[in-house]
Amino acid sequence: EVERTFVMVKPDGVQRGLIGEVVSRLERKGLKIVAMKMLRIPKEMAETHYAEHREKPFFNALVSYITSGPVVAMVVEGKSAISVVRNLVGKTNPVEAEPGTIRGDLAMDIGRNVVHASDSPESAKREISIFFSDDEIVDYAKVD
Ligand code: CMP
Repeated sequence: EVERTFVMVKPDGVQRGLIGEVVSRLERKGLKIVAMKMLRIPKEMAETHYAEHREKPFFNALVSYITSGPVVAMVVEGKSAISVVRNLVGKTNPVEAEPGTIRGDLAMDIGRNVVHASDSPESAKREISIFFSDDEIVDYAKVD
């Protein structure tokens, strides 16, 4: 089943020059990028995006970090895209993430783990709608 998921290169990924690396891994896998933008996330938008973590001890640090610099937000489409992207991204804690995954290969710090990706169909739908309007998501054929 074709799904859409939300992927974001976080401020550490942008700052380290890893936008292309992340996009490239998604594209090489065969996923299709159907929306993409760079933005500095406003505080309120960050709090909405991370609402499920509101009670966590790291919530304030998370919001302050994710708003600290530009991010690259994407909508990624493909067969089982949500779990396929989660597998490419690897575990939240980069110390545990498998080599070959984005976090396993490129990160060391749980707070600065290069990318965010939706973890379920519900969060994909919710997160996409926070960052993109329907008319920003493009419909096109990918030849492969
Ligand atoms: P992400 O997939 O964007 O979703 C929540 C984020 O919280 C997670 O990635 C981590 O980068 C961040 N985070 C920061 N500290 C912690 C922590 N101690 N445990 C889990 N997640 C954390």
